[in-house]
Amino acid sequence: MTEAQLLNRALQAVMNRHTGEDPHRPAWHLSPQVGLMNDPNGFIQLAGVWHLFYQWNPLACAHGAKFWGHWRSDNLLDWSHGPLALAPAEAYETHGCYSGSAVSDNGTLSLIYTGNVKFKDGRTAWQCLARINAAGEVTKAGPVISLPEGYSGHVRDPKVWRHNDVWYMVLGAQNLARQGKVLLYRGQTLQEWTLLGEMAGAHLNGLADFGYMWECPDLFPLDNKEVLIVCPQGLAAQEKAWLNTYQSGYFIGKLDYEAASFRHGDFAELDHGFEFYAPQTTLSDDGRRMLVGWMGVPDEDEFYQPTISQGWIHTMTCLRELTLEQGRLRQRPARELQQLRQQHAGLQNVAALLPELAIGQAELKIVPTGNWSACFGNLLWLRCSEEGLQLSRRNRRSGETEHRYWQGKVMALEILCDRSSIEIFINDGEGVMSARYFPAGPPTVVWHGEATLSVDYWQLRSCMVV
Ligand code: FRU
Repeated sequence: MTEAQLLNRALQAVMNRHTGEDPHRPAWHLSPQVGLMNDPNGFIQLAGVWHLFYQWNPLACAHGAKFWGHWRSDNLLDWSHGPLALAPAEAYETHGCYSGSAVSDNGTLSLIYTGNVKFKDGRTAWQCLARINAAGEVTKAGPVISLPEGYSGHVRDPKVWRHNDVWYMVLGAQNLARQGKVLLYRGQTLQEWTLLGEMAGAHLNGLADFGYMWECPDLFPLDNKEVLIVCPQGLAAQEKAWLNTYQSGYFIGKLDYEAASFRHGDFAELDHGFEFYAPQTTLSDDGRRMLVGWMGVPDEDEFYQPTISQGWIHTMTCLRELTLEQGRLRQRPARELQQLRQQHAGLQNVAALLPELAIGQAELKIVPTGNWSACFGNLLWLRCSEEGLQLSRRNRRSGETEHRYWQGKVMALEILCDRSSIEIFINDGEGVMSARYFPAGPPTVVWHGEATLSVDYWQLRSCMVV
C-alpha cells in the first residue's frame, strides 16, 4: 500500500469515529481520537513548544503496523493535533513505525524510530531517521542502523540524547540466547552510528536472568547520577511486586561513556498500579525531567476494555516530574496540572462520615491516620493500613479479584481522577499506582473506616485536544 493510501485510510478512520457521549473518554488526559494508542514517543520541548508523538493504530483497536500520531501544546495542558507524523509505508517499516524519540538537530525536529519488518519466519528491525519542518511535515531519511550481529529481530525503541557535543542512543534488544539487553551507540551525526556495546541487561552488572527482552530504554542524567528506565519482559511475578504482565522500572547508576558500562543498583518499579508501561522522559526548557507513560500494558487484558465499542482504546498517564531523592526516583504530578483546579473543599472527619464525592474529574489530597478504605466508582477499592496500600478490582476477563500493592508507611496521598482512570501519588511522589476502571455512571468515591482523614478536594477542568 502506498503512503498516500495509508494516510487516506487513517483519515477515514478518524472521520468515521463514533460520536456521542462517551463517559470513559478522559477529560484531561491524552487519548486517541480513534483506534489504539500505546507508547508515548518523541517527547520534547522545542522552541517552547511541547511535542508528544504516540504509537497509533488508527485503523483498529488492535496492535499492528503502527503510525506515529502527533500532539502539540504550549502549556502541557491544552493540546492540539499535529499532522500525522509517520505512516508505515516504506519497505523498511512494513510492520510498523515503532517507538522512538525526538531531538533537536541544530533546531530541526528530528525523529529516530524503529522500522519493524516481519517475514513469514522472523523479523528484522531498522533504526530510522525522519525530519519535521515547522508545518509538521515529515521527510523520511530512511534507516541509519541495521540489525546488529548477535541479536534477534527484537531490537527497537531508540532513545537519543546529546552529551559532550556527541549523540548517544540506547536501544532495547534481545540477544540470540533470548536475554534482554540495552545497547549503547555513539553518533557524530544522526546518520552515522557506532555500536559501543551492551551497557546493561540480563547477565550484566550483577544481574542473573532478567527477562528475555528489554523494551523502551531511556537513559538520562539526574542529580549527578544516570537513570536507566527500561521495560523488561519475562520477569516472574513476586508475591506483592512485578504483578503486571511486563514490568516498567529503573536502575540508578553511573554510566562510563568510554567503556559503555553502567554500574547500577537494584531494579525498582516505577508504578505499582495495574496499568503503566513504556514511559518516556524529556528535559523541559526550565530544567525539569518530565515523564509520560502509557496507561496500559501489552499482552494483558487490554481488549476487555469497553471503550473498544466506542472505537478507541487507552490513554496516556498524566505528565509527571522526576527527581532523585535518597537513592530513589520520585514522581510528582507536573506542577502545570495545578492550573486545572477549580472548586475546592476542605474536609476532615472519620472516614465513614466523609461525604461521597464526585470524582469524574477531580484531585484529592489526603492526610490519613490509621486504617481506612475508599471505593472509587463502585469498582476500584483502595485499602490503607500499617503495611501500606492495596488496590483491588475485578478482572474484566476472569471476573476474579486482583490486587496491586505499595508497601510502606502512608503519610500523604494525592489522587488524580479522570473519568476512567486514577493515579495515586504516595508520600509526595515516593510511589505511584495508576489504574484504569470503567464506572457504569458518573463515578464517586465512598469512604469506609474509623480513621480520621483530612481531604482537600478539587474539581478539575477539562483540557481540550482540538
Ligand atoms: C512497547 C512496544 C515497543 C514497540 C511498540 C510497538 O509497548 O512493544 O517495544 O516499539 O510497543 O507499538
